[in-house]
Amino acid sequence: MARLIDRLQAYLKDRREWRRVRRKQKKQFVRWLADNPGGSYGQFYAEDARRRIDAGDAHATLGVASVDRDEVTARAQRVLANFEQAGCRPEHVVVDYGCGSLWIGEAFMNYLQPGNYVGLDVSDVFFAEGLARLPAEFVARKRPSVQVIGDAALRDAQARTPDFIFSLAVMQHVPPEDLSDYFRRIVSLAAPHSRIEIGHWIRFRTTWLPPRSWRHSRHAVRAALAPLGCAPEYRPERRIMPTTPGFSIVRR
Ligand SMILES: C[S@@+](CC[C@H](N)C(=O)[O-])C[C@H]1O[C@@H](n2cnc3c(N)ncnc32)[C@H](O)[C@@H]1O
Repeated sequence: MARLIDRLQAYLKDRREWRRVRRKQKKQFVRWLADNPGGSYGQFYAEDARRRIDAGDAHATLGVASVDRDEVTARAQRVLANFEQAGCRPEHVVVDYGCGSLWIGEAFMNYLQPGNYVGLDVSDVFFAEGLARLPAEFVARKRPSVQVIGDAALRDAQARTPDFIFSLAVMQHVPPEDLSDYFRRIVSLAAPHSRIEIGHWIRFRTTWLPPRSWRHSRHAVRAALAPLGCAPEYRPERRIMPTTPGFSIVRR
């Protein structure tokens, strides 16, 4: 009985801490919005992540000194291998939506014909550093198109009629109220033949995870995609990255 009470008390303490951190994070976003009217949560996230990394935090995928270089390079090769297996060829055009520090981008730039890699992100704070990290000769030869997301950048990417569009480790930073917009922009890039792959750990219920992540539910994903005439496809045999948590987006 005493152990049960201890566990209950620990659980309640965790919940109180969770609420405190959530309130603090909401306040930080409200303050940031006052200084950046019309800004999005994605931009707030990118600035906050940059600040933490500059203060010495490690990150799984963002930054240069903050990442485990062997790990991010190996991950990028695994992603590329999945796409090759799914039929991606050097002549194809590939959009990397939420391209971050271009670790995956570098592998695709290397594989694809010049000009066929398109990287998009809500902010330039990570891809500017990513481009600076790459040898100037490589960038000049591979001619990646890397832009901040906005109407013009979306139009440019759409005009390339991409064969593949992927968004990996991005949806977790999209709050529930922005999910429809996130999908709408991604789907707006697609031509009839485009294949779209999203990396995300789906949860039974949409859940906020401190300090800056969400796990969205299957229901939320379905509801956000339905008005776009699309649906999530979870079956591994229909996906591009069958062993990575996430889904493909397909037309209904
Ligand atoms: C964890 S990083 C992942 C980077 C890269 N996709 C990877 O897997 O290595 C998340 C990236 O998504 C971007 N991002 C956050 N919210 C976004 C949104 N709503 N739309 C597009 N990009 C977003 C961030 O700026 C950041 O570069």
